[in-house]
Amino acid sequence: MKHFHDIVAYRRAVRKYHDDPVPDAVVRRCIETAILAPSSSNLQLWEFYHVKDAAKKQALVEACMSQPAARYAPNLVVVVARHDLWRERCRANLEFVQSLPEDEPDEKPIKAARYFTKTIPTLYWDFFGVAGLLKKLFAFLVGLRRPMFREVSASEVRTMTQKSVGLAAQTFMLALAAEGYDSCPMEGFDSRRIRRILGLPRGAMINMVISCGKRAPGGIYGPRFRLPLEKVFFEV
Ligand SMILES: Cc1cc2nc3c(=O)[nH]c(=O)nc-3n(C[C@H](O)[C@H](O)[C@H](O)COP(=O)(O)O)c2cc1C
Repeated sequence: MKHFHDIVAYRRAVRKYHDDPVPDAVVRRCIETAILAPSSSNLQLWEFYHVKDAAKKQALVEACMSQPAARYAPNLVVVVARHDLWRERCRANLEFVQSLPEDEPDEKPIKAARYFTKTIPTLYWDFFGVAGLLKKLFAFLVGLRRPMFREVSASEVRTMTQKSVGLAAQTFMLALAAEGYDSCPMEGFDSRRIRRILGLPRGAMINMVISCGKRAPGGIYGPRFRLPLEKVFFEV
């Protein structure tokens, strides 16, 4: 399958798989592709856990409510939104920017440095939701005079992170499809238990669990349903 549209069309949510696992090398290659996804401010606040330990995998299936997509899957990959790592990822970006050769008339690296030391920390830093409320008020007041970024509360910034991580998750599933493998994204799970299984801190958010393998007969529950384009696409 070479064509992008064919790959997208091939991908279905699969809930029953053959026993053969997706080879580790394929999982790795697809994760390498997944991390080429765009992310807000290039913070790349994602992590991927390919759960290989049998006991951990069984615990993960149970944390996914033992739903078929997890129970029948030879491979499970947990996609984690590491919102809590924003400082570290800011630093990594800053180091990258500073490592670029300096080009006198081009001020871009300097501006980018300011972005990662001031703008992003102002947006991401919060104190038990209080700073977020103040930022919300500030955005509202500034927004009365000029266009202003408004999604500044703690929960809205976390949503921003989840948005980017979702793009990487989808890229991973499409990469699997391009290699002839199947997947099912899941959000029907107990995130607290999954954090415990993976030894993750509270600030880590479970974005999706993705089951992977090769579709077995009956693995696709029915024909694909999509709303007609006129319902969702508007030329204005
Ligand atoms: C964020 C997200 C969470 C989902 N959670 C589950 C889930 O917990 N269990 C499941 O069987 N399918 C889950 N799905 C799969 C959807 O039900 C499926 O993608 C949808 O019905 C469309 O079918 P298709 O992917 O085959 O086109 C989820 C999909 C997404 C994007």
